[in-house]
Amino acid sequence: MTALMGRPYRLLFDHVLTRTDPERAHHAAFAAIRAAAPVTTRLPQRSNRPVTAMGLGFAHPLGLAAGFDKNAVGIDALGGLGFGHVEIGTVTGEPQSGNPPKRLFRLPADGAVINRMGFNNDGAEVVAARLEARGRRPGPVLGVNIGKTKVVPEEDAVADYEKSTRLLAPHADYLVVNVSSPNTPGLRDLQAVEKLEPLLIAVREEADRHTADRVPLLVKIAPDLSDDDVLAVADLAVALGLDGVIATNTTISRDGLRSDPDAVAAIGAGGLSGRPLTARANDVMRALRARVGDDLTLIGVGGITTPDDARERLAAGATLLQGYTAFIYEGPWWPRTIVSALG
Ligand code: FNR
Repeated sequence: MTALMGRPYRLLFDHVLTRTDPERAHHAAFAAIRAAAPVTTRLPQRSNRPVTAMGLGFAHPLGLAAGFDKNAVGIDALGGLGFGHVEIGTVTGEPQSGNPPKRLFRLPADGAVINRMGFNNDGAEVVAARLEARGRRPGPVLGVNIGKTKVVPEEDAVADYEKSTRLLAPHADYLVVNVSSPNTPGLRDLQAVEKLEPLLIAVREEADRHTADRVPLLVKIAPDLSDDDVLAVADLAVALGLDGVIATNTTISRDGLRSDPDAVAAIGAGGLSGRPLTARANDVMRALRARVGDDLTLIGVGGITTPDDARERLAAGATLLQGYTAFIYEGPWWPRTIVSALG
């Protein structure tokens, strides 16, 4: 079935989606995914690789990375495509519209995307109400990724994360503190240990105040951290009793691209994702696993495209995997293709 469905998507992608504005294509594709949910959620989900991590049972290692379903409107439909976990968000304390369009760009020659969406989302209150209405139900493991509202000054960042935590932790299977998106000014500065430590402590305490069962807490880091800074975050995560690290977010680097440099420069600022991230994300994963031993769950994300990429990331030390950009390029059958190849 995968082979049969892959070709029509390839034709659609080559002839229609590449000529459509990428953000409009995203909304159209997501609407189609949701419309197909009554069918896809009934399809068999075969996997011989269940994962138990952070006290949660995952059908298999592969999940959908944050940023695709920012507002938690398609969790079950995305599960129907074969993702074993879906990370919604990034959700911020206050609703915000993000950066002005155009803010999403494809680099097909590199299997890459540049985005400067800027955390466009409905805000923690609306998303919490949506999750409340959905209720707890079988389906993909639900990750909730939270970040800082743009207009909130840095000195109030902790309170903004606390608000999201209070509202969203009760609905999350796991919670992610995102300090690594390049599109909110100053956000990545929160990765410095002296800022990250009080933030993570505050989120942990706030989550515990509002949940009966301890919700697993992870931090998501950028590939642009120096190796020393990656290890410093790893040490902090262990010291604070965090449950895991997600590595990595998008990069601000434009090194090694095949796309026309003038076209890349014309796109401007944003985070680069997809194939150009694979090597660095693998290196970060290896460094993290070597540092933390078996103490943490490590979620590998960044440029995972083929079954070999997935195997390599697992071999590098990832407990779980996520993807986003390959899902755009490869289409709706991509998760099932990877999962069945993992055996
Ligand atoms: C993202 N990513 C992202 N990450 C995050 O933590 N919060 C977010 O809101 C977003 N938004 C977002 C939008 C778009 C359009 C893209 C392409 C990516 C980053 C994503 O979760 C992932 O970490 C990177 O894209 C690397 O993985 P891939 O895409 O190479 O598989």
